[in-house]
Amino acid sequence: MTDQNLLSPVRLGDVDLPNRVIMAPMTRSRAGKGDVATAATAQYYAQRATAGLLITEGTQITQQGQGYAFTPGIYSPEQVAGWRGVTAAVHAAGGRIAAQLWHVGRLSHRVLQPGGGLPVAPSAIKPDGQAFTPQGMLDYETPRALETEEIAGIVADFAKAAENAKAAGFDAVELHGANGYLIDQFIRDGSNTRTDRYGGSVANRNRFMLDVVAAVTDVLGGGRVGIRFSPNGAYHNMSDSDPAATFGYAAEQLNRFNLAFLHVIEPLVDNHSMSPPPGAQRVAGLLRRTFKGPFILNGGITREAGDHLIATDAADAIAFGVPYIANPDLVERFRRNAPLAQADRATFYGGDERGYLDYPTLDAA
Ligand SMILES: Cc1cc2nc3c(=O)[nH]c(=O)nc-3n(C[C@H](O)[C@H](O)[C@H](O)COP(=O)(O)O)c2cc1C
Repeated sequence: MTDQNLLSPVRLGDVDLPNRVIMAPMTRSRAGKGDVATAATAQYYAQRATAGLLITEGTQITQQGQGYAFTPGIYSPEQVAGWRGVTAAVHAAGGRIAAQLWHVGRLSHRVLQPGGGLPVAPSAIKPDGQAFTPQGMLDYETPRALETEEIAGIVADFAKAAENAKAAGFDAVELHGANGYLIDQFIRDGSNTRTDRYGGSVANRNRFMLDVVAAVTDVLGGGRVGIRFSPNGAYHNMSDSDPAATFGYAAEQLNRFNLAFLHVIEPLVDNHSMSPPPGAQRVAGLLRRTFKGPFILNGGITREAGDHLIATDAADAIAFGVPYIANPDLVERFRRNAPLAQADRATFYGGDERGYLDYPTLDAA
């Protein structure tokens, strides 16, 4: 047991946090023209600035990396300027904020792609389901498998996005390696059947992820870079024949970079939308022991469970998703052991300020 809890300070790499309550990255699909973060985006994050660390919604590193309408980017000068407004508002409110850098890979559609081309992926394997596009919901297509020679270009896109995040005033970045997007598509063997050095063995499937980490830490230093995994999440048709071997290797290799954190989604409760399927291998404990840096856990975690996970040293900090949508003052509610407001799912994605900026703090309510 430790004597720490959710309200104890902690240091993640180069960033000092006054508490261990982290806002999980959440897509809200409300970016402005040109996929630019707006004044409303700034207000939304500033309202939540008492979190130990805010992690932004997934933010595409290029147009090719976009998979949903109205998600913000971080590749054009206008987008960088938009994010500068967000980081300034968060810092003025006393907070800290990391940008989640995102490439969706196959989870896109031609209508979102540059030149109307097919989405790209490690392998030409079609996911089930539909993309949310400016033209409505459209069926996913079979993606185009990346040529070996193209991969370095995407690694460079991640590095450029990290430079842009620094210019925009972010305290750190989180690489989105979870939930079936491009990095995860490379890592797991259900979506990667390549026969070059980026597929096959556990080491080869982790190569793209490690190339991205190397490039991004070159730009920012390890202490301002974290990465997120969902080792047994089945969301977006994802699977792996041996998550413990695959992600155990990843966690061990990441030790070379002195990262700010490893962030793992492994829901404690089994009725959660991002739960592992019944009987799935649970690996968070293994990753906690293997990875030598700060460890963040996420997935259906309550205040009580979060305090317990920290007290038992199962994690250094806890990320909260849905609770942060409806409780901008989540830290204060935890401090007072106050009831939490419930989020309205109808306003999760897209729309206006309703369900975005209008959830009151305890004191205002
Ligand atoms: C509306 C919504 C949007 C999300 N968008 C992202 C995202 O952009 N990036 C990401 O890594 N996870 C995303 N997630 C997953 C959350 O970060 C988190 O893993 C999930 O909600 C489980 O945590 P919770 O039980 O505390 O909500 C999203 C979840 C929700 C509800």
